[in-house]
Amino acid sequence: MNKQTTPKTYIINGSIAGAARLEVLAESTWQGSFSFLTQVGLFKTKSRGLDLGCGSGALLKRILPHLHPESELWGMDSDPEMLSMAAEELKMAGYLKESHLFELWDIEQSANMPAAGSFDWILARFLLSHLKDPLKALSRIKSMLKEGGSLLIEDVDFMGSFSYPQNDGFDRYTQLYSASAIARGCDSCIGPKLPQLCREAGFKVTELSVQLPVFMKGPGKQIASLTFEAIRSSILESKTANEEECEAISKDLSQFTNDRNSIISLPRIFQLQVSNSN
Ligand SMILES: C[S@@+](CC[C@H](N)C(=O)[O-])C[C@H]1O[C@@H](n2cnc3c(N)ncnc32)[C@H](O)[C@@H]1O
Repeated sequence: MNKQTTPKTYIINGSIAGAARLEVLAESTWQGSFSFLTQVGLFKTKSRGLDLGCGSGALLKRILPHLHPESELWGMDSDPEMLSMAAEELKMAGYLKESHLFELWDIEQSANMPAAGSFDWILARFLLSHLKDPLKALSRIKSMLKEGGSLLIEDVDFMGSFSYPQNDGFDRYTQLYSASAIARGCDSCIGPKLPQLCREAGFKVTELSVQLPVFMKGPGKQIASLTFEAIRSSILESKTANEEECEAISKDLSQFTNDRNSIISLPRIFQLQVSNSN
């Protein structure tokens, strides 16, 4: 793997804490992802697929046991540390095979791009909301798919997050997440725009569904707090809040999360299957 740094557009910290957060996220959303991936037929036949922006492999590890045993799977990410963790994760789980390949690639760069028509399917989960030019990325993805191949997207709409009761710390966290994304030229409310963007890139939209995971307790309820801690440096860099305000939000959010009467949602998650066919 070549050395390459995480692109400046990505606002969430990587490394071990980042991987631990992705693990909680994957576990808390797996039921919804599994239903979607089953419904679009991902597990039915032998295929060659790519998890683009695979992170530390939290989703790959869950998908692999359900894929056809002769399927080939690639994982790509722009963060070399995340990619090594993904390879290690699959090795530890006993799933790593020669047909599984991990490659460093920044989708916003043309270098290292896989050959045209390489894949039956490409999964882009929580990736497009971190890019400056999602339309260009969609066009690149389209060219990497075989004729009739599918792009499977799961991505967020932060506008769709809620808590009960209303909580200032939670509301400020969702505002600051979106503001930090905007400061890097990205859109944390991309979810509802995806069908049109995909059509503009030349895809045919074949499935659309929306999930809103909601938690009263357990690890899923911690995701807002974990995410806030993971974006603190981006918030400070974008100057949308100062250290003192971040500290106050952190305390408020943590107290609210630990209140057994509170309810916290993730952002609304849009799920799409779009096809590379006319
Ligand atoms: C929110 S994480 C999601 C990881 C994984 N898809 C999952 O659902 O667990 C987003 C991932 O996209 C990667 N990423 C961000 N910008 C990227 C880019 N321009 N090209 C490739 N990967 C990128 C990040 O390094 C990170 O691992």
